[in-house]
Amino acid sequence: AVERTFSIIKPDATRRNLTGKINARFEEKGLRIVAQKRIHMSRAQAEQFYGVHKARPFFNDLCTFMTSGPVVVQVLEGENAVAKNREIMGATNPANADAGTIRKDFAESIEANSVHGSDSPENAAIEIAYFFAGSEIVG
Ligand code: CMP
Repeated sequence: AVERTFSIIKPDATRRNLTGKINARFEEKGLRIVAQKRIHMSRAQAEQFYGVHKARPFFNDLCTFMTSGPVVVQVLEGENAVAKNREIMGATNPANADAGTIRKDFAESIEANSVHGSDSPENAAIEIAYFFAGSEIVG
């Protein structure tokens, strides 16, 4: 079924001017960018967005990283979008990512791994609503 997923192009990627190259990967694989904006996340936004990881040892560094520069938040739409985007991104740790994935080709480390993507349709809906009003999504 056609579904939507939430995506973030992270500060390591915007810093290296990779927004267009990453968007081309989504579009080439059939995902449509139906909403997109470049923002500088606040500490409060990062802490709330990654709240599920609050108890993890990497939480503090992750929030510092995500607020270290601009990010591009996006809604991607397409057939099986959540799973398809996870394939396009590759494994969280670039060392484990398959050839031809965004993280294999662009990520700097497990933290500075260039992109975030929702892990389920349920979380996608929550994450999209956190950054976008319905009127900003144009399918
Ligand atoms: P993301 O998919 O955005 O979800 C959580 C983020 O935490 C992950 O990508 C990485 O950027 C970051 N992270 C840093 N260290 C780790 C780790 N050891 N395991 C998982 N995620 C990590």
